[in-house]
Amino acid sequence: MEFSTKVGRPETVKTDALVVGVHADGELTPTARALDAAAGGALKAAVKSGDMSGKRGSLLLLRGLNGVAATRVLLVGLGGKDDFNEKAYADAVRAGVKAFGNAVRDIAIAAGDWRVNRRDHEWKAHALAIAARETAFRSDELKSKRDPDGSAVEQVALLLSARNAAAERGLRHGAATANGMELTKRLGNLPPNICTPTFLGEQARKLARQWKLGVEVLETKQLEALKMGSFLAVARGSTQPPRLIVLKYNGAAAKAAPVVLVGKGITFDSGGISLKPGAAMDEMKFDMCGAASVLGTMRALAELKLKLNVVGIVAACENMPAGNAAKPGDIVTSMSGQTIEILNTDAEGRLILCDALTYAGRFKPAAVVDMATLTGACVVALGNVNSGLFANNEDLAGELLAASRSAADAAWRMPLDEDYQEQLKSNFADMANIGTPGNAGAVTAACFLARFTKDYAWAHIDIAGTAWKSGAAKGATGRPVPLLMQFLINRAG
Ligand code: BES
Ligand code: MN
Ligand code: ZN
Repeated sequence: MEFSTKVGRPETVKTDALVVGVHADGELTPTARALDAAAGGALKAAVKSGDMSGKRGSLLLLRGLNGVAATRVLLVGLGGKDDFNEKAYADAVRAGVKAFGNAVRDIAIAAGDWRVNRRDHEWKAHALAIAARETAFRSDELKSKRDPDGSAVEQVALLLSARNAAAERGLRHGAATANGMELTKRLGNLPPNICTPTFLGEQARKLARQWKLGVEVLETKQLEALKMGSFLAVARGSTQPPRLIVLKYNGAAAKAAPVVLVGKGITFDSGGISLKPGAAMDEMKFDMCGAASVLGTMRALAELKLKLNVVGIVAACENMPAGNAAKPGDIVTSMSGQTIEILNTDAEGRLILCDALTYAGRFKPAAVVDMATLTGACVVALGNVNSGLFANNEDLAGELLAASRSAADAAWRMPLDEDYQEQLKSNFADMANIGTPGNAGAVTAACFLARFTKDYAWAHIDIAGTAWKSGAAKGATGRPVPLLMQFLINRAG
């Protein structure tokens, strides 16, 4: 699916279908009004007859309108003007793209005049590309017959009344972000027997070849040499060997300090010896979505050739029970030298991330951001709406929250007060890997990580509730790639 802007009077635009908005109470958007005038009142008549209510999600397809060059005009209900927010905008775009049968390949969406919370053309274009591409995403590569296609739309134009460079930039950024999200979703959805640590390493190599990134994939021996005793303790119970993947994108001067992105890549989290209950355990294949978001973001930023340096680090392994697996009570030495008493082997994400975060220090980073499906407690706190954002640096937190707002990829700041650290006290090691059960679990997990990130500006995004959906729409969401991309775009200036 490709994107462009189109400039011209709506009635003269040649396209298979022109998509225009109608608000609740039947109020036509300016483009719809112009078409109505050209077509002798056909749009107002449709509204008056009750065929188009303007309610959110309502659709009406008109064909062969006199005085209109487009083959079809699709009216999309935008709902009330006052509650036409970012989500309603994306819903309207998706509805508009999905509405057609096989004959429609080229559409123009007159979203330039859909007024959504004072958002500008750049934002509208960006959100249009992401929403449109979501309608085309399929997870059928492992089905013997492909899922039926929803639509055959190949060309999507944003119709504007005048040329607008910001809108063109928005489409470019949005399309690249959508490409990154698709990679993240695909990797997230792949089953754990295929998407192993080794597979992720191969995917990273492929990405590096395609986008001219630097790549290193470290194996067990090298992790031992680095003294990553915490990471290796998690990996030990699996027959699948661990991988530490390092991708480098250089878009700025060699001496410019990089942003380092770190992803949790547990390709299956059984809980280990602290075995999880069986219900919905299949969803623990998604425990590598943080890693997938790092790979997706690296792809997107390379496509956009952003002017900054970024290092992506993925710690990938399985968390499995076995005779040689880590046990509750084991004490391990992390790469930082700090010792950890493993009281629960299911709190494995922090055990692999702490070593990856120590490794991140090598790059003298301008900032480090880790993404992890880290705690069920974060889902209890924030549900499936907000990701949990933790940071040891106010400026970095501010940048990420601003990016989250403009990308409509919600995140909520969570605390890291020193007082929570008490919960991690161990009688036998420098720290325990869990706090008090049922007591601020998302916070104590972040506080654990904070002990390994004192040398640089760091943020942690707990995506346990936002990286995938359960139920009938089960699948990875591609979050928080939009947030990360907006953050990097803003940084690149
Ligand atoms: N990957 C899980 C977190 C998770 C659970 C994400 C459910 C999404 C849905 C993580 O490794 C984990 O098991 N965390 C434990 C920590 C606990 C043992 C302190 C949890 O949240 O129960
Ligand atoms: Mn776990
Ligand atoms: Zn996990």
